[in-house]
Amino acid sequence: MLRSIAYHGDHVRILDQQRLPHDTVYVHCTTTAEVWECIKALKVRGAPAIGMAAAFALAVWANRTSTTNLTDFLASLRRERDYLASSRPTAVNLFWALDRVVARAATATDVTEARQLIENEALAIQKEDEDVCRRIGEHALSLMNDGDTILTICNAGAIATARYGTALAPLYLAKERGIHMSAYACETRPLLQGSRLTVWELQQAGVDVTLISDSMAAHTLATKPISAVIVGCDRVAANGDTANKIGTLGLAILAKEFGIPFYVAAPLSTIDLETATGDAIPIEERAPEEITHFHGHPVAPSGTNVFNPAFDVTPHRYISAIITEKGIVRDNYQEALAGLKQSEPAL
Ligand code: MRU
Repeated sequence: MLRSIAYHGDHVRILDQQRLPHDTVYVHCTTTAEVWECIKALKVRGAPAIGMAAAFALAVWANRTSTTNLTDFLASLRRERDYLASSRPTAVNLFWALDRVVARAATATDVTEARQLIENEALAIQKEDEDVCRRIGEHALSLMNDGDTILTICNAGAIATARYGTALAPLYLAKERGIHMSAYACETRPLLQGSRLTVWELQQAGVDVTLISDSMAAHTLATKPISAVIVGCDRVAANGDTANKIGTLGLAILAKEFGIPFYVAAPLSTIDLETATGDAIPIEERAPEEITHFHGHPVAPSGTNVFNPAFDVTPHRYISAIITEKGIVRDNYQEALAGLKQSEPAL
């Protein structure tokens, strides 16, 4: 399993996911601006991964800054935090990870201690995520049977997290245990995280995976023995409404129509009790060229009006279960999610 992010004290090494599957290239980042650019350009992507990358960016900044006055150091740290937070708006893990690091630094009594606390916290976020993903995989696997085929969208796999992924974790665990599971992957227009990343990841793991274009989802659900749709998420609101890659809402509606369970794999770090409902989740809109061009070649008349939302929101009524590291929530999302979040350590 390739690791998408590695921290090296004076730099963070990021696997360039835009170059996959054909080139395995790493970006060597020594500044917050370089990490910001990697997040913005989706060189690192997936909600947990962008949180980790941003946390490590703060650690690298802390190690490189020459400020010795703690008040100045913390003020600059907050500015770096705000800057990194401006890279992408939807995945709450970005803000969660940045705030965790800043809150830990604020408990320091001098700059040397603050540096150490920042590094420890960023490394802890990465280590915890590996465990979280494995637990999500265990819970998800309990909903599945030998021989099952799932359908997914985007990439909620190992390279979107510290390891295992969220929606793809049950496939990895099934493989480890000799349980046969297979997958259909939606290609995920416009940036093709499904075909470039999910198919590549699952092939590397020896999981049987079939690629479809997004417009084939309805026909596939109607004609193939799909046992469940399982997706990752970028933000779950307090009432269970869930933002994930554009196209997810359509899959949820289809799953309901075809009587197939629709599961959301969600680390607690992606659950945002401050956001009451899906209507309040900020949806990123990206550059028109992502749709009007394909590999640099125009595929639409120049000047075409474009609407390019990167995410959509699935209302909780379409969600059969939200699978977290602390267990599976099936209904009464408002209370159940609040209960699970309460058991998380406070910042
Ligand atoms: O735009 P992306 O590629 O960052 O979108 C990612 C997704 O939508 C994932 O499903 C989500 O972040 C979960 S990753 C475990």
